[in-house]
Parts: sequence; C-alpha cells; structure tokens
Amino acid sequence: MLLYSLFICFLIYFVIKHIFKVRKYPSGPLSLPIIGNAFQLGYYMFITGSLQEAFKKFRKKNQDKFYVLKKKMDYQFENISFLEACLPQFFLKLSYFKVEAIKNGSHEIPDEANDYVDAFLKEMDKLDKAGIKSSFSLEALVFDVFDLYIAGQETTSTTLAWALIYLLNHPDVTDRVRKELREVTDGSRDLSQNDKPKTPYFNATINEVQRLANIISINLMRKAAEDFQLGGVTIRKGQAVTAQISMVMSDEKYFEEPNKFNPDRYMSGDKLENQTIPFGIGKRACLGESLARAELYLILGNLIQRYEFEAVDGVPSEQPVNPKSSMRRPEKFKIRLVKIE
Ligand code: HEM
Repeated sequence: MLLYSLFICFLIYFVIKHIFKVRKYPSGPLSLPIIGNAFQLGYYMFITGSLQEAFKKFRKKNQDKFYVLKKKMDYQFENISFLEACLPQFFLKLSYFKVEAIKNGSHEIPDEANDYVDAFLKEMDKLDKAGIKSSFSLEALVFDVFDLYIAGQETTSTTLAWALIYLLNHPDVTDRVRKELREVTDGSRDLSQNDKPKTPYFNATINEVQRLANIISINLMRKAAEDFQLGGVTIRKGQAVTAQISMVMSDEKYFEEPNKFNPDRYMSGDKLENQTIPFGIGKRACLGESLARAELYLILGNLIQRYEFEAVDGVPSEQPVNPKSSMRRPEKFKIRLVKIE
C-alpha cells in the first residue's frame, strides 16, 4: 500500500513538473512523461482504423506547430553535440572522454598514439598544420567515439555472454577447445591472433556462437533507391527494406538441426562460414567486424585456456529473454572462473 501511494505521488509530481515545463513551449499535441504523445496516435488509429491514416491525421492537425518546434530543435542541434544532448553533464566530465582535457589543452598526446582518440587528434593536428581543410574536428571526434561505443560495446559484450552460456551448456565443446588452445600455446603464453590458422575447432566454435546467438536477427533498414521486383514482390522506390539475418543463418538447406549448438558443422569443409553473416554483408556491413572478431578470439580464447567455467545457481538457459526483439539478449547469469594452475 505504501509503495503504491509512493508511486502515485511520484507520478503526480512528474506530471505536474512536466506540465509546468511544457508550458514554455509552443502549443502542440499533449504529451505525458515517458510515453510522450504515443497515446494520441493510438487514439487516431482507433478512429481511422489504420496506422497510415492515423499518421496522416496526426500530421495534418499538428504540422504547423511541428515546424515551430523543429526550428527550435534545429537551432539546438547546431549548438550542442548529440553526445552532450544524450548524456548527463557529470558523465561528460569524466576523464574517460578526455573532451575537457582536450579542449583546455591539458591532454598530452604521446608520440605513438595508443588509442583512437589520440590517433584522431594527431591526424587533425597534421592536417591543420599542413593547412588542409578537413572534416576532422573535436565535434566530429565526439560523434565518432559515441558511434563506436554504441555500435561496438553492447554487440560484443552480448556475444561474449552468449558464448559463455553455450560453453557452460556444452562442457564437451569447452574441453575440446581448451585442449586445442593449450596445445598451441603450451599453456604458457597468451593466445594471439597469429594462432588462428592453428585453432580450427575454436574458430568453428566462435562461428557457431555467433550463428546461434544471432544477436542482430533483423538487419538495419535500407531505403529502396528505385522500384524493383524481389521474389515476385514489387518494392517501390522509397520503401524500407531489410534482410532477416536470422533466416539466412538458420536455413535448413545449409544448417542441419539449426537450433542445436554444434561447432562441428563448420569442420566439414562445406564453407558454412560464408553462410554465417552476423555482421551483415556488402558495402554497409559492420565497420567494426575485424575488431569484433579479434576481441571475440582473444578474450574468449584466453579465458578458456586459463580458466575452468562453473555455473553458479544452475546452468543458464540457451533461450533469449526477448526472442522477437531485434537485439536478442540472454538471461542474466552468474559464472565462476576457476584458474587452471
Ligand atoms: C559481435 C559484435 C558485432 C556485431 C554482431 C555487429 C553487427 C553489425 C551489423 C549486423 C551491422 C549492420 C550491417 C548492415 O547494415 O548490413 C553493423 C553495423 C555497424 N557496426 Fe557492428 N557489430 C559488432 C561489433 C561492432 C564493433 C566492435 C564496432 C566498432 C567499434 C561496430 C561498428 C559498427 C558500425 C559503425 C556500423 C554501421 C556501418 C555502416 O552503416 O556503414 N560494430 N554491425
């Protein structure tokens, strides 16, 4: 009861605070905290019967007010970076982003740049000194770091989490990988990327993890540049299209029993890795593919060769918590790593 009352109080507080805040803005569709004006769209869908008609009605009713707001937003975007707009101020001040230190000149770049930020700054400085106009700027750097962080962090860590789940569920695979890796390194040095040609079963295991985990099951959207026919369906210019990566990676024509974790399928010489496309394919395929592959190989390989894996509180499920989402995540789980002496 107490919790319920607290929740209601908070809700009332947020609604009142929000109403006071939006009073300063030009009049427009009514919005509520968190859900914004989505409920109005729902209402229009109810009275018009379709999402498309609802959008039309919504647009007609609000477009003048929208343009007033858009002008204000454009002004904001020109004056603050997207990163600044998204993150709380204290976060930006963390030395991790180096932005403040770079702006006030206190950050010293070593002769040999050892990260992306320093390499970027060195190049910017070189071009500046040569009097060459370029797109290298502090603002562009902030966007780059933000993009790389968003695109690269969650994807790689989710794949690693899936890998540990499959290895906990299939200790025979883990043992076989460990044996292969320790034969290559003699158990006395770190695994390096140069070892890749000598670790076919581990390479197969990573492929199988990425195929089955299938974290990005639906690829990013594209816009059709012209009308075309695909499999008897007409796609009109401007329509959004995408490939369902999960269909390719679970096609029974290539992958027998596609829902089973079986790294051996990649050992048959059928070149199934060409059919395994977790990073997409073509010109806009993942920019970080080689980095991600290196991370998966080195992090996972070195963990396997140095530690035994033990499940804590039961072996985690191989099923995603959100099977229909575009980013398939595993359940939260605990694992114990026991050092191999
Ligand atoms: C296991 C890890 C990863 C997976 C599964 C993954 C997957 C993908 C996929 C499916 C796309 C869309 C490709 C397409 O549109 O056809 C993509 C795009 C992209 N990824 Fe990754 N990614 C991973 C790691 C990374 C890392 C580590 C970085 C950077 C540090 C990164 C940066 C990007 C960028 C910048 C794009 C957009 C490329 C473009 O539109 O031209 N990704 N990724």
